[in-house]
Formats: sequence, C-alpha cells, structure tokens
Amino acid sequence: NTVYLKDYKLPEYLIDSTKLHFELQPKGTLVKSQLKVRRNPAAGAGLPPLLLDGVELELLSVSIDGQLVPASRYQEIPAGLSIEVEKPEFELEICNRISPENNTSLEGLYLSNGMYCTQCEAEGFRKITYYPDRPDVMSKFTTTIVAPRQYPVLLSNGNEIERGATEDGRHFVTWEDPFAKPAYLFALVAGDLQRVEDSYTTASGRQVTLQIYTEAKNIGKCAHAMRSLKKAMRWDEEVYGREYDLDIFMIVAVDHFNMGAMENKGLNIFNSACVLASPETATDATFQRIEAIVAHEYFHNWSGNRVTCRDWFQLSLKEGFTVFRDAEFSADMNSRAVKRIEDVSLLRTQQFAEDAGPMAHPVRPDSYMEISNFYTLTVYEKGAEVVRMIHTLLGAEGFRKGSDLYFDRHDGQAVTCEDFVKAMEDANGVDLTQFRRWYSQAGTPVLDVTDSYDEASGSYTLTVRQSCPPTPGQKEKLPFHIPLALGLLSAEGKDLPLDEAGNTQLVLPVTEAEQTFHFSGFAEKPLPSLLRGFSAPVKVRYDYSSEQLLFLMRNDSDAFNRWDAGQRLAFAALGQLQKDYRNGKTLQLQPELVEAYRSVLRNRDLDPALVAKMLALPSEQTLAEEAERIDAEAIIEARKFARHALAEALKEDLLESYRRLHKDKPYSPEAADIAERSLKNTCLDYLCATEDADALLLAQQQFDKAANMTDCAAALAALVNYGNETDVDKSLETFYERWKVDTQVVELWFSLQSGSARWGTLERVQTLMAHPAFELKNPNKVRAVIGAFANRNFAQFHRTDGSGFEFVAQQVIALDKLNPQIAARLVIPLTRWKKYSSALGEKMRQSLESVMQSGKLSADLYEVVSKSLQ
Ligand code: ARG
Ligand code: ZN
Repeated sequence: NTVYLKDYKLPEYLIDSTKLHFELQPKGTLVKSQLKVRRNPAAGAGLPPLLLDGVELELLSVSIDGQLVPASRYQEIPAGLSIEVEKPEFELEICNRISPENNTSLEGLYLSNGMYCTQCEAEGFRKITYYPDRPDVMSKFTTTIVAPRQYPVLLSNGNEIERGATEDGRHFVTWEDPFAKPAYLFALVAGDLQRVEDSYTTASGRQVTLQIYTEAKNIGKCAHAMRSLKKAMRWDEEVYGREYDLDIFMIVAVDHFNMGAMENKGLNIFNSACVLASPETATDATFQRIEAIVAHEYFHNWSGNRVTCRDWFQLSLKEGFTVFRDAEFSADMNSRAVKRIEDVSLLRTQQFAEDAGPMAHPVRPDSYMEISNFYTLTVYEKGAEVVRMIHTLLGAEGFRKGSDLYFDRHDGQAVTCEDFVKAMEDANGVDLTQFRRWYSQAGTPVLDVTDSYDEASGSYTLTVRQSCPPTPGQKEKLPFHIPLALGLLSAEGKDLPLDEAGNTQLVLPVTEAEQTFHFSGFAEKPLPSLLRGFSAPVKVRYDYSSEQLLFLMRNDSDAFNRWDAGQRLAFAALGQLQKDYRNGKTLQLQPELVEAYRSVLRNRDLDPALVAKMLALPSEQTLAEEAERIDAEAIIEARKFARHALAEALKEDLLESYRRLHKDKPYSPEAADIAERSLKNTCLDYLCATEDADALLLAQQQFDKAANMTDCAAALAALVNYGNETDVDKSLETFYERWKVDTQVVELWFSLQSGSARWGTLERVQTLMAHPAFELKNPNKVRAVIGAFANRNFAQFHRTDGSGFEFVAQQVIALDKLNPQIAARLVIPLTRWKKYSSALGEKMRQSLESVMQSGKLSADLYEVVSKSLQ
C-alpha cells in the first residue's frame, strides 16, 4: 500500500496533552497513556471514529473520562485501534503492553546492552502505544518512568519535575516537556549510565546544563562531543539568531542504532559511533563526523522541532535545511573548500546514482510505501543543495531575512517545503516559482555548455542547454532554475571583470532549455570556470582540453573548481585506460597527469588537506556512476594501474612530503593538524602502492609507533592493501588483541578487512561473520562487515561468478527478519543491475530476484526490491 502526498488530510482529532506512564520490564513493559483529545475544528463536522496507530501492541484497556469502554465500542484494526466517539472533547486512557527485549527492529522502545532506549522517527511511536502517530499532531508530553533500581538513570524530554520511590522498592522520575511536539520527537532512556556535565550561557544570559550519558567504560570519550555541542550552540546564535530553549540538553550514546543520531527534544540519542571519540581510538574522520552530527542534531531544535513537518513528504524541510546548516557550520570550523569537496563527492557518487536508479524520487517525494526508505541522499544531501541554491540566489543577508521570517511565522507549527520557500520569497520580494521544480522533479540535470569568442568585437558568448533524464513516473521534465556561478580566466590566469561593476564572478540564472549569455571587452578568448563552488547539483559538460584543465588546476581562484579540474583530468585519463584495457592494449598513464599531480604535491601554498584531495583519484564508485555501462573489471584495472603508475613516478616527492609531515607531536583534532595527517597518510598509501619494501617498512613503523588512531589505521590500511600476507595477518592480530575491548575500534578493524579488495575476499568476509565480535543484531557491525563489502569492496562484490551478489542477497534475507530498515539499506548495491554489462547485470538481477522469492518480505525491503525489479 502506497501513501500519496495528494491525499493529505488534516487530522480529525487533536491531542492537547499526552501523559505517559511506563513500568519498564524487558518482556512486559506496561504503558499507560492519558490523552486530552479534542475534535479538530478545521477538519469538518460530525464525530468520526478516532483512529489511532498501533503496531505489535498488546491492548489491555480503554477508558474514556474515567469509565472503562466496553469492547463493543472500539475495534482493533490492522493499522491500530478505532474508537467510537460521542463528544468533541474527552480524556482517553489506554493501557497496553510491549516487549522491548524482543524488539530487534530498533524502532520504538528497545534494549541495547541492557539499557532501554527509543527511536520514534518516523513511525516508531506506534510501537510504544496507540496514538495519532503523525507529525502534524503536536502535544505537550509528561512522562513518568518507573524502573528497578538497577536502572539508576531515567530520562525523557524536557525538565525533570519529580522523582521518588515506589512501595515495592523501585524508583521513578517524571519529566515534563513544555513545548508541544509530535510523537516522533518523544524519547525515553533508562540504564546504568555515567555522565559528563558542562554548562552553556546563551546569548541572552540563560544557563543551560549540558549532559552526555554513556556506559561507564566510555566516559572518557565524551569531551570532543561536548566541545562540538558548545561550538554549535554559539554558531546557531551568531549565524541564525537561534538560542536554545530548555534548561537542560542531554545526549545519550547507544550501541544499537539504525542511523547516526536523533534529535528528540532536549534528549538527543546517538549511535555511539557518532558521539564517542578519543585520540587513541578514533580517526580524524570520526572526530569531524562527530562535530558535524552533534551540530546537526542540535540545529534540529529549531529546524525540525520548533518548526516541524506537516507530513513525511516534507522530510527535506527539516533534513535538507539542517544538513545545509551543519555543512556551513563545519565549513566555518574547518577548511571550507575541503568540506565542500567531501560533500560534493558524496553527492556525485551516491546521490547521482540514486537519481539514476530505480528508487529515484524528488526532494519532496509524491508517494511512498515505507517512509524509512526515504531517508535518502536525495532528501538529505540534494535537499541541502536546494537550500544552498536559495542561499546563493538571495545572498547571506537575504537568506537570513528569510530564515528569520520562517522561524518567526511558523514557530510551534507543522509546515511544508512550500512554507519555507514562501518565507524566503516574502522576506526578499523575489519570485521562486520556477525554482520550486527542484522540490517536485527528480533526476540530475545536465548542462551542456559551449562558447564562442568574436575577435573583432572582443565579445564572448556562453550557450547553456539544460536537460534532465527521465526517472520512474516522470518522463518529461520542465527546465529548472539553475544558479550557474561563473568566472572567466585570462591567459595569465587572472579573473576577468564580467560586468560594468567589475565583478569577477557572477551567478547566471539558467532558466530556459537553451540560453545564451553575452560578455564583452576581452582582448582574447577567456577560459570559463563553470559552476564554481558547485553552485547547483547538476552535471556540467564542456569540452575542456587537457591543457585547459591543467591551467584551471593551477590558476582557478575557486578552490573547488581547482580540485574539480583535476578530477576531470583524471576521469579522462582513467576513461582512456579503461578503453585500452578492454582492447587489450598496453596501459600507459598520460604524462601530463603525472606532472599535474607532481606540481600539486610540490605546491606549499595550498592547504595540505586540499592537496590530499587533489591527489586522490576518483573512486571506483564514482567511475561507475559516470559510466554509461559499468564494466567493473575495466574500472578496477584502470584505477589500479593509474595508482601504481603515479606512485612510481612520484616516489621521491611522496617520500619527501611524507618525511616533512610525519611529526611527533600530541594529537589535536584541529583543522591544521588534520590537514597535515591527511596529506601524510595519502603519501604513505601511494608509496605503499609501489609495493617497495622500504615503503612497506615505513607503514609498518608508523603502525608500530602510532600514538593516535588516525596514523595507526592509515598504516594498517596501507599494509592490508599492499603488504605481505603473513606480516599483515600478524599486524591485524596485534591490532585486534590491543583493541578488542573497544567496540568502535573493532568495527574499524572489521571494515578495514571487508572493504579491502585484497584482504576482504568473500571467503574472509564470511569468516569475519563467524567472529565472536560480530553481531547480526547490531547495525554498526553489519555495516562494518557486510556494508563495507557491498559498498567499498568494488572488486570482490563484483566477482564475475556473481558470488559477491549472492552473499549480500543471503544476508539481506536473514536481516529482514530482524531489522527491516537495515535490510532495505543493505540491498541497495544490488538494485542497479540495469547499468551493468549484460552478464554481470543479469547475475545481479538474479540475486535480487532470489530476495524477492525468499518468502514474505517486510514492507521496507519489499518496496526497494519490487521497484528495482520492475
Ligand atoms: N532525524 C534523524 C536525523 O537526521 C534521522 C532519523 C532517521 N530515522 C529513520 N527512521 N530513518 O538527524
Ligand atoms: Zn536530521
């Protein structure tokens, strides 16, 4: 059954207050809920039955205004409960029982390592009690938790208002959240937890208590998250004028979690992997991810909680906007260009692939079977690009006026993407009518750009054609409003003035299928720098020569485009290598590419983190996304050859850089230090690609002596990819013995092996699944072993006999019985079979078919598999 946006109806009943009472038991938790129900005057006349959502609940009793309701006046239906209504306002009391211990879906109330926790977004609250589980029903929650003393910490949203003992020796705490909220923002935690505490003074001088809760053994890993939280709180005040609104803000780390984290009001719940870090156990990438996710969830307090979504089709209203906010925060805290490169790389590989695949959908989808499947790169990442384009069109000040109006106008409401765009328009007196197509049309637009220069008049003309491939359910697309940021370079590599005012960069409004832009006053033909900063989520085609790309790599004043020019050059080279490989020719790397990389490596004026990015060849996944038809073998061989050839040619320079950057200094997650480590470890990895004994010795030494996990893991990865087999096995074992007490490091250890083309052979991955530290019920472990194999181990996953696909299909089938959300994610690499060369594509389709035929699938998995087989 499919839900459609066009069928949206106002809720028939409103819930003015929600009083919850929990008595926690692993197998039989009692839930009592008291609701002040009122007929929604806006929804029409009469008193239709009250429909409450409920899934896997054991109903115990229903009372209205203190009277037990006879069973004849309510009915348990597949979706929940239907109750006859006699008056427009009444108090409803429902008692039901649930079993947190048997809840492996990690949705609703469940147990993780002996601690109770909840995950309600999107539709998990209905697994706790009967309720109108939709975001446009907002209610004030009061929550009482009763539990045995072995759970000393009892948390929920808002402020603690009471605590005490029960007669039978248990204890209770009552929490009250003064802000009306939808049920998806409800949270409860109970466990034997330790906490670190800090405080924050808001711009207006209010004191806020900040707490991070974890198991005792992880208490030393909270400092970075706390620092990040305080930075995020300050940033939101400075950049958006948004202050925190409760007296306490809590974060809890949980080991079993389907996603990264969740923004429950006043009580954010995090996947342990996205909050806990110490220099000895976490890599730089993890430190940066934690900073971003802590900020993301905190920012939701305004973009998501104070102003929430009317329905789940509007998910990008809060997610696209909040991802944009956290990306800007990270850019301000670290290197802006590097952050942009990382985000665009993700978009280009994963989101573009989604846009081109069977599950393609607009930023605001029109329909879904299972909403969990729409927490996608399109809704999140492309949604953030859409908000960024509004920012680009309005400028920082205009955007701030728009966001002020949006928060002011809609505080306390559940609204739509349309309301967001309208606020931006109204605050700036602009018309974004055509721009709205970004919300309704799926697919990645393509810009074909050509240019001409007239010597006699000195004028330069740019012609832009836009098109967008068809996507499921959308054959024809109307032109998008695309902000195309442009610079023009002189032969000296300087930015030329583009208009009377002397601006050297303009944002061209591309709104038609074909459009020309005229510029004048040039003594020679300028070189265009197109889509600077990746000003729109599109593909740009322009016939650059290698010389022009090399020139842009050296001279473009836009750091992003400098990197992008290098990527284009590498793409062309790798494309040629793939062709040569298929035709059985001897492979040879273009000398220009080698020299370009050499001069990047020698350029001391560039941020080392940017140098590291510029030295990285496009990933196999990126090459696959760009290919018309995926020839996995050619991609693998071409890339492997190019890496090796670059490493051989640049050996001296790489070694020089490695030595210069390999410093013995205490770890800090500051951007400058991260930058140096990233370049150093990039050099190390290239050096090891030569498989020279000296290089491998460097890696071994770094592994043996490393004082932080970034250096340790980078060295181990290089050894795993290039080292001698017996030595590597020894290092892997040493590593495991040293770190087996630490869950997160064990996950890293798993993924290093599963994700390695060389080490993560299918047979080895199967052995890892039998390892005592592996747990199919833990999504982080599943992602570390099976996910890393399917998404990062390009060679093994694409084994020509199809055994890589079969393996993943089998795991998907097994997982679907435990955790449908995770099964539906894991199957995605199998869904793009149409893009593969026929033999491999057919094997992939067959494994997908075997999932379909395996029995009754969850709604989550069924939606993805059935749509992909069509
Ligand atoms: N709102 C959370 C976040 O992005 C994610 C919740 C994911 N829930 C889900 N069912 N997929 O911050
Ligand atoms: Zn979010």
